[in-house]
Amino acid sequence: MELQRVQAIASLSFSKETIPAEFIRPEKEQPAITTYHGPVPEIPTIDLNDPCEENLVRLIAKASREWGIFQVVNHGIPSDVIRKLQAAGKEFFELPQEEKEVYAKPPGAQTVEGYGSKLQKEVEGKKAWVDHLFHKIWPPSSINYQYWPKNPPSYRDANEEYAKYMKEVVDKLFKTLSLGLGVEGHVLKEASGGEDIEYMLKINYYPPCPRPDLALGVVPHTDLSTITILVPNDVPGLQVFKDDRWIDAKYIPNALIVHIGDQIEILSNGVYKAVLHRTTVNKEKTRMSWPVFLEPPGEFVVGPLPQLVGEDNPPKYKAKIFKDYIYCKLNKIPQ
Ligand code: OGA
Ligand code: NI
Repeated sequence: MELQRVQAIASLSFSKETIPAEFIRPEKEQPAITTYHGPVPEIPTIDLNDPCEENLVRLIAKASREWGIFQVVNHGIPSDVIRKLQAAGKEFFELPQEEKEVYAKPPGAQTVEGYGSKLQKEVEGKKAWVDHLFHKIWPPSSINYQYWPKNPPSYRDANEEYAKYMKEVVDKLFKTLSLGLGVEGHVLKEASGGEDIEYMLKINYYPPCPRPDLALGVVPHTDLSTITILVPNDVPGLQVFKDDRWIDAKYIPNALIVHIGDQIEILSNGVYKAVLHRTTVNKEKTRMSWPVFLEPPGEFVVGPLPQLVGEDNPPKYKAKIFKDYIYCKLNKIPQ
């Protein structure tokens, strides 16, 4: 098991010039060939504390229609809360391999929770240069503490504190996104599961990679979630696909990166776009990121909002329970 972890493979590759063949992407995916370096517009950065609600709604709706991603500043999560979350996650990944394996996702488990190396089945047997840990952080009734590291001891406090602040940001984003669709402020949150929306935290750990020109961290995808709220460390790597080009996201200290996921695209009947994104890796530095996927409960039905469909505007997506949506996507079955 240990040798399946990218972190272990990376430590063996240290000071080498090569990586195992299964990590070499086909040319059409290699970052050195496919990253655009010309002048490009930047991912919008939005002040979440804008005193003018109308302005905030307009900016967030525009970014969600045109980009499916934006960064937010002045979001209200204190920087030391974010720092503690990051420090605890980093300490966990720096533990000896066997201590991390205690939290390994059980083989054949229904849940994605736990420590592991891979989620989607990949074409051509290729592998991604990243390990991860998944566990829920909210609501309290959904939490499986067995997947929360006991070491470092600060881990639990740091994550509980982050979840508490995150909730305020989530509520504000759902409200603003609803108003941007011309529906009442409570609509999108309710249509996503209301107070039962599950906050699934993932920690991505991208070890240094001797050939960052040939490998990818996470491969191109849109998130399954309603929205995803992510904090990165200071090593850049996130790329988004915009106007047929892969472009780099800028690192903005203390900003949160908000991704529109598949469920909001569906609820909005395609008005808001789920962003296609991927990550590159770094030759010398470890990149880490902490996305929180806001997900409807598994049995909750998601489909285009009735307010947004009509005779001239037929539904573009099927309504289905979230669990079935995940199953189809992970097994590459048409929705
Ligand atoms: C993901 C993801 C981006 C990043 O884990 O779904 O897109 O910046 N991560 O690590
Ligand atoms: Ni993603």
